[in-house]
Amino acid sequence: MRKRALGLLVMVERTGEPLLVRTPEEFRAACDAQRLTAGPGSRIGFVPTMGALHDGHLSLVRIARARAPMVAVSIFVNPTQFGPNEDLDRYPRDLEGDVAKLARAGAGLVFAPDPASMYPEGEETRVRVGPLADALCGPLRPGHFEGVTTVVSKLFALAGPSVAVFGKKDFQQLAVLRRMAADMFFPVEVVGAPIVRESDGLAMSSRNAYLDEGERVRAKALSRGLSAAWGAHAAGERSVGVLRGLVQRAVASVSERIDYVAAVDPRSLRARADDATLGEGETLLLAIAAHVGKTRLLDNVVLGEDPSPVVTSTTAP
Ligand code: PAJ
Repeated sequence: MRKRALGLLVMVERTGEPLLVRTPEEFRAACDAQRLTAGPGSRIGFVPTMGALHDGHLSLVRIARARAPMVAVSIFVNPTQFGPNEDLDRYPRDLEGDVAKLARAGAGLVFAPDPASMYPEGEETRVRVGPLADALCGPLRPGHFEGVTTVVSKLFALAGPSVAVFGKKDFQQLAVLRRMAADMFFPVEVVGAPIVRESDGLAMSSRNAYLDEGERVRAKALSRGLSAAWGAHAAGERSVGVLRGLVQRAVASVSERIDYVAAVDPRSLRARADDATLGEGETLLLAIAAHVGKTRLLDNVVLGEDPSPVVTSTTAP
């Protein structure tokens, strides 16, 4: 097995096409082979995804490429992180298109397993993170983060990456995975990557494909609300309630169902009270989960840390 993967990897280097592997055993062997051929100290960068790739995903590959000579990307719509009434069955899938995009972004290895090989008959282990996973999306998506941490720990165990890149678009997921990697002594550096947006500010997401034309226009209100708060904060506003209210109003004007518009501490994810005032140098995560039509959208900004979500004539430098 190792020999086969080794041969294939050598081929990969020659053609520039990523090697596509479909089983956990092949994925582990290909990563081992890479370490073997590249010699001691060689690093594997890793970007886990669920596919239907867009420029947000590809930005993670580029960040990983800058930190490791070989980047592996997994494409796996992980069933354990979807609730019974969520979109597991209709989640967009396009393996061929994804591999072509990954070739252009410079990934060396693509792992696209089927669910039965990741969760074989008899498996029963789950990884659970504490209070960080219970905040924000936690109560609304029971079991979701347990599914994420379980699959990512399986993927880490197979790939043995030195560095793994996750988007800040899923801010809570990044926080939970950082915690997991530290607590479980995974020898992997977890890197957070900036949110990549469409030109009008909408955060890129595979689920944006569900939006019809009208919903797509309405969806802009999320980043618009975050920008309004960013602008107010830049102008000196420090009331948590005022900042959160700006986002709440923008989202309420377009969303059929708001899961939350939250103001939380970016490290603990604990809520900041509306009557609190930000102290000198204190940052604030404003996070949105809201439905537009049938599509659940996420967006966020860390005030005092991130650039403005939407660059307009008033916020451009
Ligand atoms: P998925 O939604 O495919 O996202 C894969 C990675 O891309 C995540 O780290 C996510 O935060 C990042 N990402 C998505 N949209 C982004 C954007 N607009 N800008 C920057 N990064 C973005 O998140 C998952 O898959 C899964 O939960 C996974 C971690 C793969 C576990 O199954």
